[in-house]
Parts: sequence; structure tokens; C-alpha cells
Amino acid sequence: MATFDPRPRKPIVAGNWKMFKTEAEAEVLIGQLLQRLDPLIEGIEIVLCPPFTDLPLVGKLIDGSKWHLGAQNIHWERQGAFTGEISPSMLVGLGCRYVIVGHSERRAYFGESDETVNRKVKAALAAGLRPILCVGETLAEREQGRTEAVVERQLSGGLDGIDQLSGVDLVAAYEPVWAIGTGVPCGAGEAERVSGFIREVLGRLLGDGTAEEIRIQYGGSVKPGNIAQFTSRPGIDGALVGGASLEADSFATLIREALG
Ligand code: 13P
Repeated sequence: MATFDPRPRKPIVAGNWKMFKTEAEAEVLIGQLLQRLDPLIEGIEIVLCPPFTDLPLVGKLIDGSKWHLGAQNIHWERQGAFTGEISPSMLVGLGCRYVIVGHSERRAYFGESDETVNRKVKAALAAGLRPILCVGETLAEREQGRTEAVVERQLSGGLDGIDQLSGVDLVAAYEPVWAIGTGVPCGAGEAERVSGFIREVLGRLLGDGTAEEIRIQYGGSVKPGNIAQFTSRPGIDGALVGGASLEADSFATLIREALG
């Protein structure tokens, strides 16, 4: 007999280390995390997204666990004269399962546009990587009442030309720019409202069935003390965590809080 599952999507919490942790520091952090968190954890997907230089070591250290490895960026070409870039197959070869695409820091500081984000999403999917597509408005855009317009443009641009997709292969992250690294998270009710809008747009772009399968994370000043406010909402399927993922105690507590 089928049982009613109140949470049809498996929650997913990803730690975006950004440009923190040398290899030596990563080794310490992973060692501590393995002591504090069940490596064979069920009921939640854990993704660690260290800098490129830490990927081989972190991949080796979490081998045999159920935690996943993710990258923070990707290039869309398979190979070529693209100095400083990393290809999809290089990431796959290191054991990556996920890749963050279109983070607001990359849009703001490295000129990423909806068009380049779109190329990266397509390249990731073609290589078998699951993109974590970040969207979110700046404070000025919010104050101008443009939150929905911005998020819709980022989604339709980022997913342009993609119609064949299994929902589990794409994660969307709602990261309001004003909440990132500020200690001022978005209110959980508002984050759920925008997440609902994101799912509505995903439904229009990819079909309602696919949109129902896509996990939508909230990101921006998520801490152990507030993560449950977000993950307890049925429309929010996890979190993309920056600062609080850099320390074993806070990340482990945060995962336990997310599990409820
Ligand atoms: P903080 O959790 O440090 O606010 O960063 C959020 C973020 O940008 C995750 O991608």
C-alpha cells in the first residue's frame, strides 16, 4: 500500500566553501566532520563544495560516505584554450556529482550573464553533473519591487533550450544577494513565498511534474539557529550554506537541525 509522503523531495544541504580552506585546512575540517556527522546519513543529501584545489583530497576523504562532492564553477566547453578554466569532464573525473552555477558572486565579480550560466547548466547536465542554479535579487531590485522579474529572468535565461530534464538532476537555490554573508537572512515566510514563485516558473519552463521534483534551496546567512525555520517549510527543500559550512561544529549542528 502506498503511504503518503509529506516530503516528496529529499532535502539537500550544500556547503559552499567559497575561496576558503587550503588543502591542509580542508583535511582538518573533513576529519572533524566525519567524527560529528554520520557518513552514511539517510534522509538528507549532503554536498560539499570546496575550492577546485581541494576537490581531489576531499573526494578521497569522503569516499565510502554518502556525502557528495560538488564544484563551485564549471566551464561549458569540453576542452580547449581557456586559460584558468575547468571542464565538466575534469570535475566528473574527480568524483563531483554537483556543481554550483550562477552564484551571485560570480555574476557580480566575474561577469557571468544568464547566457553563460545557461551554457554552464547545459554543459553540466550533458556531463552528468547536477547543477545547483543560483538565483536571487539585489537589495535595490527588491526595493524596486523587481524580485519576481529578476528571478524569472534568471531562471528562463539559465534554463533556455532545456526541455528534457529529470527534476532530480537540477537544484535551484534562492539566494537573495542582500542576505549573503550579512548575518541578515530572508524571513522564512518570504523565502518560501519566493520559492513557490520559483517552482511556478519552473513549471512553466519544464512542466509541472518536473518542477515538483526539483529541490529548491534557500541560501543567505543560514546558521544552525535558523536553518530549521527554512527547512521545516514544505516549499523549501534544503539550504546552500556559506560561512556556517566552514566550521565542523556549526555544519554538523546545522545538518542535525535540518533533519528535525
Ligand atoms: P552565507 O551563508 O555565508 O551567507 O553565504 C551564502 C552563500 O552565498 C552560499 O552560496
